[in-house]
Amino acid sequence: MVAGQILRMVNGPIGSSRFCNRLDRSAEIFRAADGPRGPNAALLSVRRSYMTDLTAVDATVAPAVKPATLPARPFFSSGPCAKPPGWSAAALATDSLGRSHRSKIGKTRLAYCIDLMRELLNLPDTHRIGIVPGSDTGAFEMAMWTMLGARPVTTIAWESFGEGWVTDAAKQLKLDPTVIRADYGQLPDLSAVDFSNDVLFTWNGTTSGVRVPNADFIPADREGLTFADATSAVFAYAIDWAKIDVATFSWQKVLGGEGGHGVLILGPRAVERLESYTPAWPLPKVFRLVSKGKLTEGVFKGETINTPSMLAVEDAIFALEWGKSIGGAAGLIARSDANAAALDRIVAERDWLGHLAVDEASRSKTSVCLTVAGADEAFIKAFAGLLEKEGAALDIAGYRDAPAGLRIWCGATVDTADIEALGPWLDWAYATVKAAA
Ligand SMILES: Cc1ncc(COP(=O)(O)O)c(C=O)c1O
Repeated sequence: MVAGQILRMVNGPIGSSRFCNRLDRSAEIFRAADGPRGPNAALLSVRRSYMTDLTAVDATVAPAVKPATLPARPFFSSGPCAKPPGWSAAALATDSLGRSHRSKIGKTRLAYCIDLMRELLNLPDTHRIGIVPGSDTGAFEMAMWTMLGARPVTTIAWESFGEGWVTDAAKQLKLDPTVIRADYGQLPDLSAVDFSNDVLFTWNGTTSGVRVPNADFIPADREGLTFADATSAVFAYAIDWAKIDVATFSWQKVLGGEGGHGVLILGPRAVERLESYTPAWPLPKVFRLVSKGKLTEGVFKGETINTPSMLAVEDAIFALEWGKSIGGAAGLIARSDANAAALDRIVAERDWLGHLAVDEASRSKTSVCLTVAGADEAFIKAFAGLLEKEGAALDIAGYRDAPAGLRIWCGATVDTADIEALGPWLDWAYATVKAAA
């Protein structure tokens, strides 16, 4: 079976679909949504090792009986993620729209959004939190560009987005960082990290489904700063903020909000760095956090550097109020845990499905990445395309740079019943694509 045959099968008349009108170009169906990075040579070789000949598959295959029940909300994308239950565009507050973001209402809503985030993150008063441009990437690069260069840098990478920060540090900022890496599915040896350096890491690697289990590997008395890209981690894991000097995220992940804006969290040592160190390179306006040697405090009260989308802000407020209504951080984390456990049961019951993340302690509870026996990229495209066409599961093909497999978002905005309803559909898609091979 060649990719073209499978694609024809996916695009052919395989039953009615409520999503057909949105999915009539295969290139759109299969494009991973989150991020621009290309694989390096090491990652490519890992990926190749997963691309086994389909004919070699020797796993048990259930008969291809199409399940009767669809997940109520088949939204399993790893970014932008499912909207919170009960969300609708009409439910958003709109009084701040069409007004200056510096008007009283604009500033009040921005400050309210910041206050809600602080509350739901259990963020201590020691840490500032602000809304910045450029989604998570903008927030993380703002931190890198404004604070790095003062001392040696270590970057830890085990998947595509961590690799992106390695590229930034090495090729753009030319900092000659120490790079500690692991292949897809594994966590590097965190005990090897020298915390007299500034240390960059991704709390939850969205493209491999591997996360740090906690912040115990970070010493309390470190000399360097810690920079955590926590975009698919916040609101899903308890974060030990005393160990984090800089954290970033975007609303589009666990909150099910919109992209476009990033959130920047700064601990006191990061502020000290900003006020005492001037990088050797020029900074564009959207990166500037200091004025006359002092932190621009307004950014952390809702006086954004440039114009925000108040619609995205209102959307984030909706998600945060929903999070608060279900018990705040504990409620959000419990939903993610329940989703990941439901998916884990599905995996355990099938010999053709496995976890890409080998060690359970560092396995993601948000972006869960699965291996499929014998599957190569064409098989996964056909598999995910079938489910998309049926309206059973949207956006579950693994990230394009990762080993061929599935990625199913288990963050708080997904309902556990929908994960449970997915199991029989995965069986059906596997049997159907395999039968066509
Ligand atoms: C770990 C990680 N870092 C960074 C990004 C980029 O996020 P954004 O597109 O919000 O800038 C993503 C997106 O999936 C991610 O998963």
